[in-house]
Order: sequence, then C-alpha cells, then structure tokens
Amino acid sequence: MFDLDGRVAVVTGASSGLGVAIAEALASVGARVAVVARRADKLAAVAKRIGGVAIARDLSDLDQAGSVIPAVVDALGPPEILINAAGSMFTEERAEAEPRVAIEQTLGLNLIAPFLLAQAAFPHMVEAGRGSIVNISSISGRVGIPGIPQASYAASKAGLSGLTAELAVQWARHSIRVNTVAPGFFRSEITGPLYDSSKAAEYLRRNTPLPKEGSAQDIVGAVLWLAGDAGSYVTGQTIVVDGGWTAR
Ligand SMILES: NC(=O)c1ccc[n+]([C@@H]2O[C@H](COP(=O)([O-])OP(=O)(O)OC[C@H]3O[C@@H](n4cnc5c(N)ncnc54)[C@H](OP(=O)(O)O)[C@@H]3O)[C@@H](O)[C@H]2O)c1
Repeated sequence: MFDLDGRVAVVTGASSGLGVAIAEALASVGARVAVVARRADKLAAVAKRIGGVAIARDLSDLDQAGSVIPAVVDALGPPEILINAAGSMFTEERAEAEPRVAIEQTLGLNLIAPFLLAQAAFPHMVEAGRGSIVNISSISGRVGIPGIPQASYAASKAGLSGLTAELAVQWARHSIRVNTVAPGFFRSEITGPLYDSSKAAEYLRRNTPLPKEGSAQDIVGAVLWLAGDAGSYVTGQTIVVDGGWTAR
C-alpha cells in the first residue's frame, strides 16, 4: 500500500527540514523524486543521496514557480505526486504592524506558489489517471499561537486548507486527491531560534501533550499515507500532526 515504485514525485522545500525527510521517505519506497528549493548546493546533495534530480528555483518568483513542473517533466517524466513543503515567514511583527510587502511575500510563497504548482501538475495527473497533492500547512492555520505573532503566515496556511478542499472536489473526477498536512512544532531551520531559546523551548514542551520533541521524521508517515495507495480514499482533508497541541 505504501509502494511508490517508479512514480515521479516533486517535493518543494527539499533543501532542509521537513522537505528533506519527505523526499527521502518517498525515494525509499521507490518514487523518483525531483527536489525543489533555492539553495542549489544543498539540493544537489539531497538529490545525489536519494537518486533524484535537483531543480533550483525561487518560488517567491511566481514565474520561476511556473517553470518547475516543465523542468520535472523534462528530467523525470510527468509527476503523479506533488508535495508543496516550501514555506517561510517574512515578518515577526504583530498583526497591526505587518508590512504590506511581507504579507504579499508570505501569501506568494506559501499559498500562490503551491496553487500554481498544482495547476501545472494537473494535466499530467489527468493524463496518468491519478495523482496526489499534499500541501504542508501549519497548526497556525487552525489556531492562534499565543506569543508568536504570525498573522499573514496563519492566513496563508489556512488558505492551503481551503484550496485543498476545493481542488479535491473539482479534481476528484480525475482521481486526483488533494490533502494538507498541518504540522505543529518541529525543530528545523525555520524554528531553530525557538528551540535554541530555553524559555521558548520550555513553552513548546509545556504545550505539547506527547512527551517528546517533534522531529522531521514524525511528519513523514502522514505524507506517505496520503501520497500513495494507502490513502486512496482520502481527499480534501487537513491532517494535523502536532503531538496533541491542538487537542488541548
Ligand atoms: N518546523 C515547524 O515547526 C513547522 C511547523 C508548521 C509548519 N511548517 C511548515 O513546514 C514546511 C517546511 O518547513 P521546515 O520546518 O522544514 O523549515 P525549513 O527547514 O526552513 O525549510 C523550508 C524550506 O523551504 C524552502 N524555501 C524557503 N523559501 C523558498 C523560496 N523562496 N523558494 C523555494 N524554496 C524556498 C527552503 O529552501 P531554500 O532556503 O534552499 O530555498 C527550505 O527547503 C514549511 O511550509 C513550514 O511553513 C513547519
């Protein structure tokens, strides 16, 4: 049920953190993986390790985002799996002070780029007669996070869940499934400063029911389930993987 032998998969944000773990996991069950992010050196190392291809692009530049899927088709063939994991925060200001440019950057990278990638993958998935798209959002698209202001980030991640449900319904007739995985807190480049501050790390521990720190590996199971046949009747959903943070 978890075998992806020969299927072409695209993973954005695969130069670090969750994206790397996801790309490695897909490759380990047989997928041929294209990894996408800006840092060509890191991407090349990941691609080499997993026998995939590196496609260096800045997804904040929506023209570059539009060129990803054609490059994947050239290098590996038509994609059947798309994992939109690239994402970032562009401001730490409180909502009332977020600069407009940061709001636009956040929505561009975290919401518009995944939509454009899905649009570009669509005809190939239609042709294949199946496809799975998994967007990586965040629990902040579902609940407010006290003490860590992130209004535009939360809006972009909640937007992914709305997009997911709508694409799932529109594209179900082609057997294309669209889901979102919403992580809680995991140590990575984006959250490194949080974990490095003992006060913040204690805040994370106190608010996470499961008694261990989330690692990139903890997100992989949900993505593998949704990417392949194990999740064949699941579409339009947002699956929360957060150690129980939002269950409190
Ligand atoms: N870690 C957490 O606790 C957590 C919680 C909730 C949600 N998430 C989400 O999970 C996803 C992965 O985050 P992570 O924790 O693994 O963080 P990370 O280590 O900072 O990884 C972010 C990835 O996105 C890529 N990226 C950033 N800006 C990009 C751009 N303009 N164009 C192309 N790629 C870009 C980065 O690569 P380059 O720098 O090489 O471009 C990197 O590969 C993100 O969508 C994040 O919002 C993470």
